[in-house]
Amino acid sequence: MLSIGVFDSGIGGKSVAKAIELVLPDAQVTFVSDPGNLPYGSKTPDQLYRLVVPILQELAKTSQVIVVACNTVSTTLIERLREVIDVPLVAIEPMVKPAAKQTKSGVIAVCATPTTLASDRYRYLKETYAKGLKVIEPDCKDWTSMIEANTVDRQNIKKRIDAACDQGADVIVLGCTHYHWIEDIIREVADNRAIVIQPEPAIIRQLKQVISKL
Ligand code: DGL
Repeated sequence: MLSIGVFDSGIGGKSVAKAIELVLPDAQVTFVSDPGNLPYGSKTPDQLYRLVVPILQELAKTSQVIVVACNTVSTTLIERLREVIDVPLVAIEPMVKPAAKQTKSGVIAVCATPTTLASDRYRYLKETYAKGLKVIEPDCKDWTSMIEANTVDRQNIKKRIDAACDQGADVIVLGCTHYHWIEDIIREVADNRAIVIQPEPAIIRQLKQVISKL
């Protein structure tokens, strides 16, 4: 049986694991998180490296492929992790390129953690694919904890999304897997002013490609 590991700091990755289970019902999907060290989004790459390596090494013992369902870890560490983890790693990163293709207003909003937004990889994505576009980065740093604690504050979300839409954003990128759980609220408050995109379909395509080469 195909064994797939899925990793995130917390319940963000669970939405990705669920999406994988739906399309690959015969696979054994093992989801692992690190709730004791949440949120990852305010940690440095070196702090994250020390936390993540032992977890992925353990998960790799029972997985043929691992989906790093965490933008924060993927954008800061994926190359370093590939050097020390013995199974293929599928990474998740903010969908700047698809957003740039879809915007008509020339303004996109990327909702992501502070560590993702500060990463070299994210800067590369912006410089490469969003040249000439306005990229708004709403302050979402309290969202992971809010979602983990199940204390979702619609007003807080509305305020940030309204501000982005008011500045002309017509595409909103969910650049943190935790935000998949509030995708419906974000879509509602965007109220047809912006489309909301998230990476699950793209990850599944990439995962299937990796599986086909195992
Ligand atoms: N879900 C993670 C991400 O996609 C990180 C959330 C956190 O722990 O801050 O970035």
